[in-house]
Amino acid sequence: MEGRACLVTGAAGFIGSHLVRRLVALGAKVDVLVRQSSSLDRLADCRSKVRLHYADLRDEAATREALASAKPEFVFHFASPSRGANSADLEPTRKSIEDILKPLIGLVDAATALQTPPRAFFRSGTIAEYGAVALPYRERQRENPITAYGAAMLAGTHYLEMLQRNLPFRAITARLALTYGSGQSDEFLIPQLVDACLEGRRIEIKRPDDRRDLIHVDDVVSAFLAFAETRNVRSRVINVATGSAPSMREVAAEVIAATKCDPALVEQHRSPPGEAINELRCDTSLARETYSWSATIGLRQGLSQLISARRAQIGAGETGLSAKAYG
Ligand SMILES: NC(=O)c1ccc[n+]([C@@H]2O[C@H](COP(=O)([O-])OP(=O)(O)OC[C@H]3O[C@@H](n4cnc5c(N)ncnc54)[C@H](OP(=O)(O)O)[C@@H]3O)[C@@H](O)[C@H]2O)c1
Repeated sequence: MEGRACLVTGAAGFIGSHLVRRLVALGAKVDVLVRQSSSLDRLADCRSKVRLHYADLRDEAATREALASAKPEFVFHFASPSRGANSADLEPTRKSIEDILKPLIGLVDAATALQTPPRAFFRSGTIAEYGAVALPYRERQRENPITAYGAAMLAGTHYLEMLQRNLPFRAITARLALTYGSGQSDEFLIPQLVDACLEGRRIEIKRPDDRRDLIHVDDVVSAFLAFAETRNVRSRVINVATGSAPSMREVAAEVIAATKCDPALVEQHRSPPGEAINELRCDTSLARETYSWSATIGLRQGLSQLISARRAQIGAGETGLSAKAYG
C-alpha cells in the first residue's frame, strides 16, 4: 500500500482508526473523513501523519468537496452506526435510511463524480444483514434481517451490487462478524467484561449460552488490505469472520483466566427454559478461496492482546474505553 492514496471514512471510530494506523505504517498516503463533532482521541498517535477532511456524509456537497480534495485511489467506508435500536414504530427504519443509506449513496455519487475516480471502494457491511436464516451464513443465501440496522445495511449491499455495472470502480462489501479489540466502545460486552474483571467489579452476563462469531480488529484490517491488493476478483460481498462461534460463557472463562479475577464477579444467568440459544456464525470459504484471506488471531490471543492494552491504560490512570487514545 506504500504511496497509495487512501480515504477512510469513519476514521475516528473503532475499526476505521485501526485501519488508518495500519495504512500509515504501510506508507500509504492517508486522508481521513470525520465529522466536526467527532472525537479524534483514537487517532491521537497518527494525527500528524494523515490529512483531515471534515464532512457529515449526509451532506452531499460537503462529501463531494472532501472527495475532490482527497482524490483517493482507494475508498474505505466505515462511517455508519455499528448497530441500531429497534422499536415497534417506524422511527429506527427512518433513521437507518438517513444514517446508513444516505451517506453510502452520497459517498458513491461523490466518488463517481471525480475526474479520476477511485480504483476501488470497500465498505463495512455486517453479518446482521443475514438475520433469521440457516447457519452458517453464506454470502449467496437469501437474507432475512430482523432489525432496521440489518435491513438498511443489506439494502446498501444490494444497492452497491446493482450499481456496480455502471460504476467506474469495483465496490466490495465486507460483512463483518462481531469485531472486538482495543478502542471498542464500552457499550459492548467484551470491553465491559474485560474492564470489570481488571477492576474487580461485578458484571452480569444475561445470555451466556448465546454464541457469536467474534473477530479481532487486526484481522478485519488485514481483510480490507487483502481486498485492496487483490485485483480481478468477481466476488463483491464477502464474509469477514472466523467461522467459529464461542459461547459468551466460554468468552467469560477466557477473560477470567487471563485477568485472574475472581470468577464470582461474573454472574452468568441461566438461559430461560424453552428459549432458543442465539447463534451467529459464518461460512468463511469465499474469502479464503477468492482473496486468500482468513482470520489468524484466535480468541485467546485476541483477548490477551486486548487485556494487555487495557491493563496498560488502566495502569496509566485512564478509565472508560470511549474517551481515550488507543494503540
Ligand atoms: N464493531 C463491530 O462489531 C461491527 C460489526 C459489524 C459491522 N460493523 C460495521 O463497521 C463500521 C464501523 O464500525 P465501528 O465499530 O468502528 O463503529 P464506530 O466506532 O461507531 O465508528 C463509526 C464512525 O462513523 C462515523 N460516522 C457515522 N455516521 C457518519 C456520518 N453521517 N458522516 C460522517 N461520519 C459518520 C462516526 O462518527 P462520530 O465519531 O462523529 O460519531 C464514527 O467515528 C460500521 O459500518 C458498522 O456497521 C461493525
